[in-house]
Amino acid sequence: MIRKFRYGKPFPTDAVVKNVGQTSGMPPFFTVTEQDGGVEYRYTMEKEDCVFGLGEQMRGINKRGWHYDGYAYDDPHLTETRTSLYGAHNFIVVFGARTFGVFVDCGKRVSFDIGYTDPDELIITFADADVYFITGESVLAIVKTFRELIGQSYIPPKWAFGFGQSKWGYRCEEDIREVFRGYEEAELPLDMIYLDIDYMEEYCDFTVNRERFPDLKGLAEEFKEKGVRLIPIVDAAVKVKEGYHVYDEGVEKGYFCTDSEGKPYVVGVWPGDSVLPDVLNPEARLWFGSYYEEFLKQGIEGFWNDMNEPAIFYGQGSIDRAFQVVASKAGVNLDHETFNEVQAAFGSLANNPDDYAAMHHKAEGELISHSEVHNLYGDFLTRGAAEYFAERDPDRRYLLFSRSSYIGMHRYGGIWTGDNASWWSHLALNVKMMPSLDMCGFLFAGADLGGHAEDTTEDLMLRWLAFGIFTPLMRNHATCTARDQECYRFKDLGAFRHILSLRYRLLPYLYSEFVKCAQKGEMLFKPLCFEYPEDARARTVEDQLFWGESVMLAPVVEANAAGRYVYLPARMKLLRFTRHGVRERVMEKGEYYIDVPLDEVVVFLREGKVLPLAQPAKNVASLDDRHLTFLKFIVQTTEYTVCRDDGVTKSSLQNFETIKVQP
Ligand code: GLC
Repeated sequence: MIRKFRYGKPFPTDAVVKNVGQTSGMPPFFTVTEQDGGVEYRYTMEKEDCVFGLGEQMRGINKRGWHYDGYAYDDPHLTETRTSLYGAHNFIVVFGARTFGVFVDCGKRVSFDIGYTDPDELIITFADADVYFITGESVLAIVKTFRELIGQSYIPPKWAFGFGQSKWGYRCEEDIREVFRGYEEAELPLDMIYLDIDYMEEYCDFTVNRERFPDLKGLAEEFKEKGVRLIPIVDAAVKVKEGYHVYDEGVEKGYFCTDSEGKPYVVGVWPGDSVLPDVLNPEARLWFGSYYEEFLKQGIEGFWNDMNEPAIFYGQGSIDRAFQVVASKAGVNLDHETFNEVQAAFGSLANNPDDYAAMHHKAEGELISHSEVHNLYGDFLTRGAAEYFAERDPDRRYLLFSRSSYIGMHRYGGIWTGDNASWWSHLALNVKMMPSLDMCGFLFAGADLGGHAEDTTEDLMLRWLAFGIFTPLMRNHATCTARDQECYRFKDLGAFRHILSLRYRLLPYLYSEFVKCAQKGEMLFKPLCFEYPEDARARTVEDQLFWGESVMLAPVVEANAAGRYVYLPARMKLLRFTRHGVRERVMEKGEYYIDVPLDEVVVFLREGKVLPLAQPAKNVASLDDRHLTFLKFIVQTTEYTVCRDDGVTKSSLQNFETIKVQP
């Protein structure tokens, strides 16, 4: 059951697709205080209560013990004490003495203090929001009700479930060819190579540097024939440059964000002085979306949208003030305070709330400050592209994912989880984030495998891939200063081949489970206690997940580990994927230490379930998913339903085949 409460004047976010009437009065269980336009929700938690959700966030699956902000923020230092990342996903489920869900629908900052100030208190603060209060029989039932409220998750084309290689630093056609050759010669599967900002001319969106990429169309076509697609990045900011068509047209049409007087508001991003499309204006976002055509007509069918929190290195005017502070201290003795002042002059420039406040959008004819709608920017930008695709070819699916997001964007595209680092803790974080993202509808998601910043190592890369084969978006990506981490650069190529091949062998299952979860509003990754709510031990497990209907995952996320402890909440069958075949062992409910060598993948098959497997393939196009074999843990004939769509149209997503499997 859903109840909706309205506070102040919320800006329409389009997060919700169902019409829910407003309820007067108070939401159950909470003490609500309204003061100076702000609202505080307070709930006293029982000792055993867990709080799940918040999508893309730091810390555990159970969010208790820290404070978080629903606030889209670009800061590449993903440390434990961060309170927000690139997206704002304001949905939580309290599970325990009472079980219920809360979604605070609001484009401004929303704060969740989940036992930080007081270990027993859950305090949510916000202003101008619709709050949805959801009850149901279980956490899973509440999540399903929430997902119905926010609408069906985006489903990319099937090839997008293949493996992709990326790096900021592929500068020219030859670099791309080298990556292709590297994978081909090492006999490692590959479906996508990503183009980061260096393909552009002076970091201008929708341009291609012709010296470095003389024939992008030819390259895209040649690679597509070989089964590999090129996926360019598109940034939010548009370079201020007369004669640059996107800038000129946007200025002429009044499609950029402005200052309070209606003049284009200048911010600093990759190209230096830039302007931001005013994506809250439906015409402006469709206009920006229509530029993707420049790539579509070159045979490109997938995109990643970046810097759309929107990330700004500096705001209009604030860079001049910073230079003034620094100039005024030249020749002055820099004692502790003065030095800090000099440092802060530039240190506080990026993503400064004052600059956001000074930037404006035109919404329904009125100018409103960006601070009022901050969290919606990446969502609406991505939606603009999706709206253009839908207009161009209503039945076709394109690959589209974004760095920033708000709930609602899950209907238009996927996300990657931003600039993590090559740290074991970020592999663990990747595991914990997946179920939280699923709760909020972001099924097509994944982290930069191997880590974006810093130098990775062969063992970290292998362990990360051994988890990454289960994430719908599977991409190895790194920053320009990091050591090269393409899989073919490492020593034990056999191990890489085995793990990447397993992704393709499991793809019919992953894809079928994904499509079913999207269509039914279910979670692909589930924490153990979502399935076993009565099991107190299951509630404490933060590094194991159910994956689809048949499998439990227990990835190794620690350096030097020869294996790991695993908790089985029920009888299951261990499946050990070695280079030489699959070994099976039935195990009773309980705690075990399981060896997991670096080149093996261990999963657990649930009782009464089967797991379809295809033969290895070098890309999705050559995958034979008609001849599946089944790993089984059954005593009687059972069924498994496979998605039999054509991989690219929306209408074919209704085609399923139910296969009977004998014990
Ligand atoms: C941002 C993105 C990262 C990309 C870089 C250069 O940091 O998050 O993935 O490589 O920009 O475009």
